[in-house]
Amino acid sequence: MKIAFFSTKKYDVDFFNHANKKYNFDIRYFETKLNEKTAILSKKFDVVCAFVNDNLNRKVLKTLNDNGIKLIALRSAGFNHVDLDTAKEFGLRVVHVPKYSPYAVAEHTVALILSLNRKIHKAYFRVKENNFALDGLLGFDLHGKTIGLIGTGKIGRIVANILKGFGMNILGYDKFPNDEFQGEYVNLDILLKKSDIISLHTPLNKETYHIINKKSISKMKNGVMIINTSRGGLIDTQAVIEGLKSKKIGYLGLDVYEEEENIFFEDLSSEIIDDDTFVRLTSFPNVLITGHQGFFTCEALTNIAETTLENIYNFKNNTLNKNIVV
Ligand code: NAI
Repeated sequence: MKIAFFSTKKYDVDFFNHANKKYNFDIRYFETKLNEKTAILSKKFDVVCAFVNDNLNRKVLKTLNDNGIKLIALRSAGFNHVDLDTAKEFGLRVVHVPKYSPYAVAEHTVALILSLNRKIHKAYFRVKENNFALDGLLGFDLHGKTIGLIGTGKIGRIVANILKGFGMNILGYDKFPNDEFQGEYVNLDILLKKSDIISLHTPLNKETYHIINKKSISKMKNGVMIINTSRGGLIDTQAVIEGLKSKKIGYLGLDVYEEEENIFFEDLSSEIIDDDTFVRLTSFPNVLITGHQGFFTCEALTNIAETTLENIYNFKNNTLNKNIVV
């Protein structure tokens, strides 16, 4: 099996080479993203391995299909970046890694909540400059406050369990409620109205696109904290900026951003960022953004590499019976 990797970083090479000792697949790592210009590189390969900001639209899938690609192995849980109808039409099999470490993302979610609340991101720089003044660092007890989780799947449920330990009241909204959820299910309107903190844990799909918008923000408590470690498209960024400016939103923690494709995962420290919306977001003192690092733990990267290669191995041996998207 010849596998073409796209959007490869050094850590991908390290973890995949280690996992590949078991399989000895022929892997070629491309640093470039997969898009309409680079899909041509898939010629002479059997499998394409893609990540979250690769764009597998109809044109790209057509090129992959023309090049004889049989399998698209996503090394992510999300698959909103793949045109699944077209993949189906071409008979391209798509597999993913549904669960690599929900703990990694859940713990990062809690890290954003704690950092924003206690202003750790500001305190760090103050102390470095021998500024030990506390003005402006005032936080609030999480104990007794209410968190509303939109999406109570694997990650949402772990966030619920962690925050239960902090003594928070846990509310949840999900299209498909789960018996293991350690909180109270309510409808979306009640969740928006009652929550001090709202955290998003649904996939991005037609129903969840811009679930946080001008109307939903208007239903929230004044000074609400919004956290998004799921997918950027869940939030209407302009509406959130307006909410921050009017002080309706008191805190915003993001690990994902709607237009992250051209920004995240790259060192742009010497570049001019031409996304004015993103730059506006970073200008707020009560906004904390990380660059899609929720998944980035040793355990998660090990599981991603092992599951992705196992998916490919099962496909090759006609024993693929799990982790199938289409
Ligand atoms: P999951 O599939 O276990 O849970 C998703 C939940 O959302 C399910 O309970 C489902 O019923 C619910 N849901 C689906 N459509 C809905 C709708 N229209 N309205 C309300 N609820 C709906 O997924 P998991 O593992 O908990 O992941 C959640 C999201 O986290 C993923 O979709 C992915 O986008 C994101 N993620 C982010 C990572 C990061 O590095 N920041 C890494 C991994 C995942």
